[in-house]
Amino acid sequence: MKTIAFIAQKGGTGKTTLALSLAVAAQEAGQVAVIIDLDPQATACNWGDRRKLEAPVIVDAQPARLVRALEKAEESGVDLALIDTPARSEQSALAAAKAADLVVIPCRPQIYDLETLPNSREIVNLAGKKPSLVLLNAVPPWPGRQEEALEAAKTFEMPVCPKMLGHRAAFGDAAALGRSVLEYDSTGKAAEEVREVYKYIMRQLAK
Ligand SMILES: Nc1ncnc2c1ncn2[C@@H]1O[C@H](COP(=O)(O)OP(=O)(O)OP(=O)(O)O)[C@@H](O)[C@H]1O
Ligand SMILES: [Mg+2]
Repeated sequence: MKTIAFIAQKGGTGKTTLALSLAVAAQEAGQVAVIIDLDPQATACNWGDRRKLEAPVIVDAQPARLVRALEKAEESGVDLALIDTPARSEQSALAAAKAADLVVIPCRPQIYDLETLPNSREIVNLAGKKPSLVLLNAVPPWPGRQEEALEAAKTFEMPVCPKMLGHRAAFGDAAALGRSVLEYDSTGKAAEEVREVYKYIMRQLAK
């Protein structure tokens, strides 16, 4: 089993959106995915309630129970565990980063988000210099913005995922229905980008 932690000290960067989207991408690729929700806001669990489907399983957990939740997931044949964490909680972010094979840090391409990256880097280092990846999210789909966003993120001296997600209404519309964009608009741009991010991340995990 491989484990990915989604952390960011800034709120609203796309931690939950990424975790849910990649869990469904994993399912689409034939993997068994589980989402571990460490956020007291329970956004991922609420999405699961709206979803009314058995998969992916979403586990309502807390940092002190995370290791046990992951052991149980592995025992039950899960291939990929995705840990969603709350913003502004170093305790949860650190517990998730310690337990993960890869830490993904979603970040909007704006200074208020970018300037919080050193804090996430510190957590990644505290967790034992875990492999990590900044993932640019909600990038305006205008010419040149992707390149600009990549350049800006790279100045924070952390690995940056060359694949990113555009700012697309489908993410919110799908979430309202308890769906991922892969199910909501399977051939749309958002779905295509999620599949590209998924493939890139799986290649990192295989290294
Ligand atoms: N690529 C995107 N395009 C458009 N909207 C997006 C995108 N990614 C996320 N959103 C929207 O932004 C909002 C915040 O996203 P999300 O809840 O995933 O962030 P979060 O980091 O989990 O937030 P929190 O810190 O509160 O847990 C949601 O309304 C979501 O639908
Ligand atoms: Mg969230």
